[in-house]
Amino acid sequence: MSQKVRKAVFPVGGLGTRFLPATKAMPKEMLPVVDKPLIQYAVEEARDAGIEEFYFVTGRGKTIIEDHFDRSYELESVLIEREKNALLAELQASVPKAGTVAYIRQQEPLGLGHAVWCAKRLVGNEPFAVILADDLILAETPCLKQMVTARDKMGGGNMLAAMEVLPQHTSRYGILSPGGEQDNLIEITALVEKPDPADAPSNLAVIGRYILEPEIFNLLENQSRGAGNEIQLTDALSAILGTSPFYGLKFDGTRYDCGDKIGFLEANIAFALHRADMQDDVKTFVTKIAQDA
Ligand code: G1P
Repeated sequence: MSQKVRKAVFPVGGLGTRFLPATKAMPKEMLPVVDKPLIQYAVEEARDAGIEEFYFVTGRGKTIIEDHFDRSYELESVLIEREKNALLAELQASVPKAGTVAYIRQQEPLGLGHAVWCAKRLVGNEPFAVILADDLILAETPCLKQMVTARDKMGGGNMLAAMEVLPQHTSRYGILSPGGEQDNLIEITALVEKPDPADAPSNLAVIGRYILEPEIFNLLENQSRGAGNEIQLTDALSAILGTSPFYGLKFDGTRYDCGDKIGFLEANIAFALHRADMQDDVKTFVTKIAQDA
């Protein structure tokens, strides 16, 4: 049996430039899909996968995320007064238990690899998950839970979420080179960050879910800058290939790129269509808008 994954790191320091002007004063992780901010979906997915501790790597302008995961006594007392009990219970349930959440600042925007490294002392010497909140995944079994289950079967090691993308889009993703494949688990033989389509080893992309062994921190510590002049997580991951088992899981579910305006709109419609309280209305108006267009 592999060591339990108890901790998750949420890199939330990014500037969200693809979503300006919405993200000028508001963190992109707080953009709501239907009625819940992206970061809350990420935290709930982590919880569903058995995560007990939540570490946010933040940056300037992101303190609203801390407020979101804190109690709001003023609001709670108003909800009590108005007897909005269901809403009150929902809000209280979304706050992590005292002592299970921590925030650390990435002082400079040096890239995803550096953001993950910032959580080194919080994570310590155990496997941990990384979730990128703008990769929102609609799935019957949450993606991270699928990964935890698959990793348990393999007895541990490193794992990331993988998905086929259009060949012309490889330069938007980390791309893996596949070895053997069994039960949707692909052995990874090489990883490259954002290759041009002509240089890409496949069209299998890394999606923002990782379970990593703590050895990655040593590599991140000495990782030089890569694509986009940033310290890339993909480059450090590439360096552990061959030394430690590493798999990509072709997860069941649909991923929406919520850092992108079209992906975000799609996610809102898809998630609303999955909500019993709104699917009929949404179906009617989506059909009507499409007919009128
Ligand atoms: C990051 C990773 C990339 C991965 C992507 C998934 O890139 O560096 O390997 O494919 O997330 O969303 P970013 O989108 O932050 O540029």
